[in-house]
Amino acid sequence: MLTVQGNQFVVNGRPFQILSGAIHYFRVVPEYWEDRLLKLKHCGLNTVETYIPWNLHEPKKGQFHFTGIADLEAFVRLAESLGLYVILRPSPYICAEWEFGGLPAWLLKEKDIELRCSHPAFLQHIEEYYDELIPRIKPLLSTNGGPVLAVQIENEYGGYGNDKTYLAFLRDALQKRGVDVLLFTSDGPDMLADGSLPDVLATVNFGSRPDEAFQKLKAFQPGRPLMCMEFWDGWFDHWTGEHHVRDGKDVADTLEQMLEMGASVNFYMFHGGTNFAFYNGANHYETYTPTITSYDYDSLLSESGDITPKYEMVKKVLAKYAKRQETKMPATSPKKAYGTVELTESISLFDTLPAIGKTVRSPYPLTMEQLDQSYGFTLYKTTIDGKGRFEMDITPVRDRAFIYVNRHYQKTVSRRDENKFVMLDFPQEINSLEILVENMGRVNYGKNLKDSKGMAGNLWINNKYVFDWEMTAIELDRLPVLFKNQKENRYPKFFRGILEIQEDAAPDTFVQLDGWTKGNVFINGFNLGRYWSVGPQATLYLPGPLLKKGKNELVVLELEGNRTTTISLAAEPNLG
Ligand code: GLA
Repeated sequence: MLTVQGNQFVVNGRPFQILSGAIHYFRVVPEYWEDRLLKLKHCGLNTVETYIPWNLHEPKKGQFHFTGIADLEAFVRLAESLGLYVILRPSPYICAEWEFGGLPAWLLKEKDIELRCSHPAFLQHIEEYYDELIPRIKPLLSTNGGPVLAVQIENEYGGYGNDKTYLAFLRDALQKRGVDVLLFTSDGPDMLADGSLPDVLATVNFGSRPDEAFQKLKAFQPGRPLMCMEFWDGWFDHWTGEHHVRDGKDVADTLEQMLEMGASVNFYMFHGGTNFAFYNGANHYETYTPTITSYDYDSLLSESGDITPKYEMVKKVLAKYAKRQETKMPATSPKKAYGTVELTESISLFDTLPAIGKTVRSPYPLTMEQLDQSYGFTLYKTTIDGKGRFEMDITPVRDRAFIYVNRHYQKTVSRRDENKFVMLDFPQEINSLEILVENMGRVNYGKNLKDSKGMAGNLWINNKYVFDWEMTAIELDRLPVLFKNQKENRYPKFFRGILEIQEDAAPDTFVQLDGWTKGNVFINGFNLGRYWSVGPQATLYLPGPLLKKGKNELVVLELEGNRTTTISLAAEPNLG
């Protein structure tokens, strides 16, 4: 059990320095959890930290998911069996460059809901989620003989709001369900006042200048232990942006400064992993900017779990300050270039809509969340009367859309477009207008957090609102089975091919998307995430455990157009 005595952490009666690293179980396939945790321990760390994403565990209201990659308890028990302590951050908001900061999209079905504050409906949903989540965590707590030393309340709340009643509600919600380990908050050094509670330990998050950050923490909370809850050793990337890297020596030097001060630390990230499926978040300061699929983070282990030079430098520094627990080091996980796969079959999304979509009608456009849909695409369809060239205001589009008139592709529009008006030609007296909207990931941080998808309002076309809409939710939780009876030639299209694997335990590989524009890749039905030729990321990580000996089904959903129908599988990633 972890306690605070003066300016020290104490475990089992002895002073304890928390040397922790973040691994998000939900960003790593379960078969590799042990490998990553062993590498963490081998580096000289004694604790693993993870967030808990509400939207993964309660994908639909009242439907809970705690198996496979969502098996939080198995992850914690595994860490324990390897001799590691655990820190949990079940906020329920987690930021983390994760879709909607971990909040479930269905919260937005209630349009007037206020997030991350004492809004009664928001609190009620948290209560119901915690009734399911916390009893799972309780036996894992160190006070009950488990490995969990500490639990975080909210996440950098000082960077969002000032509702202390809400923070106190979260504290009480944990404690009344039996969470009796050390509670803490974490914030930027200048945001401590709004983010913390008087009786809860405050910690700080930063990437550099530990002296300054810890001075601020000491001034705010004198005589207590110093802890950097997020030591940013790298950074994440946005589509169209640069691939971020951070010098390993700089990270090791910064760590050394912290350890010299006797501080505790949690590497954010020790191992970043992958935003599989549609789970990437987005930022929205000036403009909406979605995060890429890889969460490599340029952290101590690469996205595919390999030791980096930064890892070695950090290990050396840790060895100077702390006695490393001896542990076996797993073998390097092999990577393989499997060559090329020919995607021989294809079908337009429009030909397979009945199999993968769910259609409803409404006088006005409903948002994605109002359609009980969280991720993927929504097709909005209506009729436009009259021949002519009409102006349409695209402001409600979240986030990017393909526009078709009478089943012919016209234009792609985006929430990022500065000009919110497009001109469309309607050649007939009665025309069909279809708008296929892509959710590119909900905002996970800051003032634009409340980010409904699909159509966030009605469309103003030719100086009036248009009524009578048909909407098809395409969540892509199931893929088309039949690739025949192709009538349409319109994109998006699904492409399918077979990857033959000889090995019983297939090595990892990287899916190269040269010649493809934008979409998602699925292996045996598992959604590996998004690709986009704008970069920086040019390959998708395909972990070996997702492959099986024999035939593997590779499906690409291409949204815009491809110059090739082959996919190459390489031994090296290309993150730009
Ligand atoms: C903050 C958040 C984290 C993450 C990092 C940036 O510190 O608390 O969840 O978003 O920023 O990677």
